[in-house]
This record gives sequence, structure tokens and C-alpha cells, in this order.
Amino acid sequence: MLKGKKIVLGITGSIAAYKSCLIIRQLIKRGAEVQVVITPAGKEFITPITLSALTSKPVISEFFAQRDGTWHSHVDLGLWADAMLIAPATASTIGKMAHGIADNMLITTYLSMKAPVFIAPAMDLDMYAHPSTQQNLRTLQSYGNHIIEPGTGFLASHLEGKGRMEEPEHIVASLEQFFSQQGSMKGNRVLITAGPTYEKIDPVRFIGNYSSGKMGFALAEECARRGADVELVCGPVSASMQTRHPHIHRIDVESARQMHEACQRLFPSMNSAILCAAVADFTPATVAAQKIKRTGDDMVIRLKPNPDIAATLGTIKRPDQTLVGFALETDNEEHNAQAKLQKKNLDFIVLNSLRDPGAGFRTDTNKITIITPDSQTQHPLKPKTEVAADIIDQLEAEMNKK
Ligand code: PMT
Repeated sequence: MLKGKKIVLGITGSIAAYKSCLIIRQLIKRGAEVQVVITPAGKEFITPITLSALTSKPVISEFFAQRDGTWHSHVDLGLWADAMLIAPATASTIGKMAHGIADNMLITTYLSMKAPVFIAPAMDLDMYAHPSTQQNLRTLQSYGNHIIEPGTGFLASHLEGKGRMEEPEHIVASLEQFFSQQGSMKGNRVLITAGPTYEKIDPVRFIGNYSSGKMGFALAEECARRGADVELVCGPVSASMQTRHPHIHRIDVESARQMHEACQRLFPSMNSAILCAAVADFTPATVAAQKIKRTGDDMVIRLKPNPDIAATLGTIKRPDQTLVGFALETDNEEHNAQAKLQKKNLDFIVLNSLRDPGAGFRTDTNKITIITPDSQTQHPLKPKTEVAADIIDQLEAEMNKK
């Protein structure tokens, strides 16, 4: 999986820097090409001579080569690499990466990087547990970077043993797993819905919900990363919600009716669809042309039902297509999810409950149970990026059965 892959290895000032040698050896043994970029502090812990001997390449540390003044182009490195791995990554480097403080060659390379970035933190437990470090790691994760940590790989859930850098063989295994999935969905077209819908009451008011779009966007990125072409039909989400992958085509809509129309149009040319949007089941029966004025003490808004997008697609689904729904529940979770699985003719449903802390709307994490007609798999609380990978693993398994 790593044969011929070009890896930029960033090394920072941590006692764990000696382990970088083991990482390099294992990467090279697997056929990868490694270019080291080291921070000035990193050089206090390990010498560039050792690193260049192992990689058979000069180590890059300064913006200019000291010997002849040649310019080291961080932009070229960003284009050259298939992946960037920063191991060990100190609290200081993690903070600079999260905030774009480009005061050394490693950070400028990171900011120019076009390839996926893996970060293996290394620091003492108090520094690791500090809210600012945790916040910086969450920020980096929300930018699509992969954090490699000892244990389950989930930030701050169990701090015991965290902070220490993950062992080199596990770091290399994470990269191998990543590359093994790349391209596994090539040639597939996936429709994904994300975010809330807004149902207009009058020109200034609407009925909406708390969906941020984070779960749906994570699914879109994961499918695109695996080589699929994604149509992302997206309700009104905040301006900060942006897709990164060029294979994601975003269609913005506002209401459930508009989302329904877009999905109906797109679904026949898709291999699969994942309906992650929180769609309003009802919409005001009439939309007032002018802002509704306060008159009496109370007010009644009559609602009429919206079309059910999942149920519509379930009816027109061909045997070669895979349809995935979500169930957001507050009670009677499994029973309700099972009922939706059948009623909407889904291949599987992803249950998340608002009773689980850290799950559902707006959080960067989710806790899901994947329910198929004959199995049920619970997953622990994880970042939405990793939850998306679990869901897409299941999607691929279902698609392979068809
Ligand atoms: O966006 P985030 O802040 O990251 O939050 C993620 C999430 C909580 C919105 C997401 O994980 C989730 O649970 N999405 C589904 C929310 C929902 O509306 O669930 P539901 O149980 O009401 O609907 C069941 C299924 O039918 C869903 O796949 C839904 O998209 C679909 N549906 C519902 C109503 C409707 N009119 N049309 C639909 O297609």
C-alpha cells in the first residue's frame, strides 16, 4: 500500500523525535519515499545527518539551504507529497498549525499541503490534557487532518496513556490503512443530504432545526476520499461549512420541498444515497407575503406535511442501488429506527440518540448504531470524521453484496 508513496515527514522538538528513525525505516522498507522537514527545535533532539542517511535525501529545515542559498519551496513539497506525517508533533507545533502561524519551514509546508495530513501528538499528559491543546487538536481535526493517538484515537475521552506518541508501527499502520481505502469507491456516484431545512412562515421567519451539516459533510469528504463522485444536497448551513475535496459537487437548497426535488432528480444516476439531513416533516400551509404583525395574545400556524425524501427514494430504488437513512431519536430508539428502516425501504439505518452526550446535532462527535435488516452494530463515541468512515465501510459492504 505504501509502495511508491511520497511522504513528507515533519519532525518537531520532542524527546520522541528518536522514534522518527523507526518510522522512516518502516516507511522505506514498505517502498515509500520520505522527505524530512524538521523544526529548529527538532534538531536539538535528533541530527539531520542521521535522518538524511536514513532517507537518502537532504533534510529540509530552513527556508534557504545554508550552503548555496537555494530556496526550499514549501509549495513544491505540498504538491509532491501523497501524505504528510508530523511525528512527533509538539503542543507548540499543533498550536501553530491550528492558527496558521507560519514561522518555520514545517508550518509553511503544512499550510501548502495538498495531500492528507496525519498528526501524532507527543507531550506530557498535563500539556496534552490542557483545554487549549485539546481545542487545537479538535480544530485540526475539523480541518480534515487525521490525529493518530495511542488507544482508541479519540481526543480527551480517556487521557490515561495519552500524550505519549503512538508507537511507530501503529503510525505506519494508520497510513497503510488510509491508502488501502483510497480509490475503493472509484467510479461510484453517491448522493448525500446534509444540514437542516428551513420552512418559511413569512419573509423574516422560518421553522428550522439544529443540524449543522457536520455529519453530512464528513460523509461527503469520506466518500470523495475513497474515490467516489459526490452530489451533496445541502440545507442552509453556516458559511464556515465548506467542502474541500474537488469531487464533491454541492447543491444548496432551503426547504424540504427543494431538497426533495433535487434528490428525486439526482437519484436515478446514483449508485447510492445517504440521507443525513434533518428534514422538516411539516411546513406552514401558507406563507405570509408580509411580516406577520403581533396582534392578539396567541397565534396559530397551520402546517401541512412535507414529502418524505427517504421514502420517495425507497420507492424508486433499483436493486443495484443502496439507500441509507439516519434516525435521530429521543426515546424508544431501536424500535423507532427499525420501523424507519422498513417503512422507507432502506438498506441500513444509522441511529443516533439525543440521550447520548456528545451525539447528534452540532457536536464534532457522534455515537451511532448501524442497523441492517439482520444485524445491529454499536460504535463508541468518536469524531464525526471517524463515524463517517464506519458508515462508509458499511456502505461499501452493502454495495459489494449487490
Ligand atoms: O448536522 P449535524 O449537526 O452534524 O447533526 C447530524 C444529525 C443529527 C442531523 C444526523 O446525524 C441525523 O441524525 N440526521 C437525520 C435527522 C432526522 O431528521 O432524522 P429522522 O429520524 O427525523 O428522519 C429519518 C430519515 O428520513 C433521515 O434519513 C432523514 O434524512 C429522512 N427524512 C426525514 C423526513 C423527511 N421529510 N424526509 C426525509 O428524507
